[in-house]
Parts: sequence; C-alpha cells; structure tokens
Amino acid sequence: EGPEVADISTLYKHTGMFTYDPGFVATASCRSAITYIDGDKGILRYRGYPIEQLAKEASFIEVAYLLIYGELPTAVELTKFESTIRHHTMIKETLKNFFDGFQYDAHPMGIMVGVVGSLSAFYHDSLDINNPRHREISAHRLIAKMPTIAAASYKHNVGEPIVYPRNDLDYCENFLHMMFSNPCEEYTPDPVAVKAINTLFILHADHEQNASTSTVRLSGSSQANPFACIAAGIASLWGPSHGGANEAVLDMLNEIGDVSQIDKYIAKAKDKDDPFRLMGFGHRVYKNFDPRATLIREVCHEVLENMKDNDNPLFELALELEKVALEDEYFVERKLYPNVDFYSGIIYQALGIPTSMFTVMFAVARTVGWVAHWLEMMNDPEFRIGRPRQLYTGAPMRDYVPVAKR
Ligand code: ACO
Repeated sequence: EGPEVADISTLYKHTGMFTYDPGFVATASCRSAITYIDGDKGILRYRGYPIEQLAKEASFIEVAYLLIYGELPTAVELTKFESTIRHHTMIKETLKNFFDGFQYDAHPMGIMVGVVGSLSAFYHDSLDINNPRHREISAHRLIAKMPTIAAASYKHNVGEPIVYPRNDLDYCENFLHMMFSNPCEEYTPDPVAVKAINTLFILHADHEQNASTSTVRLSGSSQANPFACIAAGIASLWGPSHGGANEAVLDMLNEIGDVSQIDKYIAKAKDKDDPFRLMGFGHRVYKNFDPRATLIREVCHEVLENMKDNDNPLFELALELEKVALEDEYFVERKLYPNVDFYSGIIYQALGIPTSMFTVMFAVARTVGWVAHWLEMMNDPEFRIGRPRQLYTGAPMRDYVPVAKR
C-alpha cells in the first residue's frame, strides 16, 4: 500500500540506500569520461585537456571530435570529420516549410525546440539506436544541422529568406554567413567575430551534468531517439537559470539603463524580499571563479575594442556593474562572480546578434556535449532507464467521497 507519509525507511528497504537531494547537488547520476570540473579550484577539462589550452589553440570542430571520440583528431581525421559535417549541413526542403508555420515573431528557441524535435520525422534511416552506425550518423547530422536551423530560426524572426550553408567556409564562419548574408549582400567573415564565436562555442560545448545535459541523458535513458532527446535538452537550456541567462543579462542591463542606477539594482539583488537577481553572477558548481568567464572576459574586451559599436553605453554599464559587484561584500561573501554568460551576452550584442538568439547560440555549441553524453550513455554497460524517486508529502490514505456528498 505504500507509506502514508514520507517514509525514508520504507524506500530504503527497497533500494538499500535512499537519499533526498533536491537539485541533485550531491548526487552523481552517471559515470562519465568526457568533462572534469573542480568547482572550488576553477578547473574545467575536456577529456583531460585544460579548457584554457583548447579555447586558445583549437577549432570548435576539433573540440567536437575530441568530445565525441575521446581523442584529439590527427590531421587526416580532422579533415575527414570536417568534410563529414559539411556533407550534412543542408536541411530538407520540406523541413523549410516548418518555419513558415511559426508565428512571424516567435522566439527562435521556441522554433528550435520544435524543428530539432521534428528531425526524427525526417531521418528514419538513422533512428535505430541499437545500431552504432545509426547513432554516429545522427550525431553528425545534429552537429551539422544545428547552425543551419539556428540561422533559419533567426531569418524567420526577421522576415528574411533562409540562407543556405556554404561548405567552403568553416563551421563558425558558415554560421555567421547564414545569419548575416542575404540575397542582396554577402557577409564577409570578420576574423575577430569568427575567433570570438569559435572561443564561445568551445567554452559552451560541454559542462558535465548540467540541467540540459541531464535532461538529454534522462530522455535518452528511455531509448528515445537522439533528435527527440536533443530537443528536450534545448527546452531545458532555455530557462533563465541556465542557458537563458545570457539573454537575461542583456534584459537586465537594459532595465538598469544607466551607470547611475547600479547601486539601486545591487541593493535589489541583495534584498531577500525582492526576487531580482543579478543575472550572469553566481554558479552552482564554480564557487571561486568560472574559468570560462576568465577566458571569455579577455575575448569580450578584444571584441569591444574592435567593433564599431564599442561606444554603446550598455558596454560601459556592464563593465561598471562587473567592477561594483566584484567589490561588494554580499557578492564576495557568497562567492558570486560573473559567469560565462555575463560576458557571452555582451559579446553577442557587440557582434550584432540579437538578444533572442543568445540562447540559440549556446544550444548550437552545447549540441556537441549533448551528443557526446548521449553516445557515451548508449555505450555504457551500466545503462538503464533513469527513474528518480521522491519523498511523498501529500495526504495520507483517505476514502473517495461521491461528488453529491462533498
Ligand atoms: N544575485 C543575487 N544573489 C544571488 C545570486 C545572484 N545572481 N545568485 C545567488 N545569490 C545568492 C542567493 O540569494 C543565496 O543567498 P543566501 O545564502 O543569503 O540565501 C546565495 O547567493 C546562494 O545562492 P543559491 O541560489 O543557493 O545558489 P545556487 O547554486 O542554487 O544557484 C545560480 C546558482 C542558479 C546560477 C544562481 O547563482 C543564479 O540564479 N544566478 C543568476 C542566473 C545565472 O546567471 N545563471 C547562469 C548560470 S551559468 C550557466 O548556465 C552556463
């Protein structure tokens, strides 16, 4: 009949162990060999390689190979992988019809959730999740098509025709081309912009068991197909406590409006009766500093110096807010430092990428991590369906009362 109230001892009897861990702050849901994080020391490594080395020296597609296959590619392997990804960049013409069905001003993340999920209705030839080759082709398709779908979501949003991928360009250049070219004008990739996107994509590529990656794993644990699992990951990433934070940073900066208002908003962020939080500050795992933030801060300053738009008062406001918060006792005591999303939003704004696309950019990069985790899980001998338990806190057993007698 089950316990009438939350009864840990009953649950313990069935499993041998039972923990109540809201937010999973102390629970490992899996074993993984992909990404190592030490939050106290500010360490992040992909497959053992420090993020600092990868962000400065590697290309995003090289990092994608590393995350998926476990080793850095040789020159031959990299060329082959790049060519495979290029081979899959197009989307089906009929998939294009999907975009027309969305409200013209739909949020691009809403479009992403729908369109990526719909890929499972277009690629039946790679849906056998028990076939390693099918799993690999689906992984390649997802990585290759994400920038195309992301840019198409943007084009729909601004009412311009979809721009086709150009396979003579590299991954990041191609994405910028599909975003900013139009039938009247071809976008010429700006090396500073390409470098910034490459760095941001590398930094966002994986971050072990965050909410969206755990969502992908949990969805996949029921043997759902990878396109559906990645769509679930995109939905989870959209939240402002996760990938939506970079968009929320810009909304917040616009709300603050002026350097003179910073003190007022810092006070609001400290006030426990006020739900306002300083967006882009704090991290569940990094309690000293976010190593990605240190790297992207440099890129952010480089971009601001190089871009025409660098006299935008929003950037001055952002840099002043960063300074004030870093010196404020409340933020120092709680170890609330700017996270990667504080800077990524500012960089995207400087590159002319609209706010509504910020989380989409994150989704394009994180697809590589999601896919790597999904593949790792599918190859795991301990693989089983995820099924968290709960502490029941509802009513004890009671008898049904017919409606006339209530
Ligand atoms: N502004 C003001 N106060 C904050 C902030 C913030 N941004 N973040 C945390 N705090 C305070 C909390 O009120 C709490 O204070 P208390 O101890 O006096 O009650 C303390 O710091 C600890 O906060 P928690 O919410 O317990 O920290 P948690 O680890 O659960 O949350 C999170 C981490 C969600 C990132 C949080 O810091 C936050 O909401 N930040 C803003 C949103 C954001 O930038 N998210 C992006 C995360 S990075 C990413 O997804 C790539």
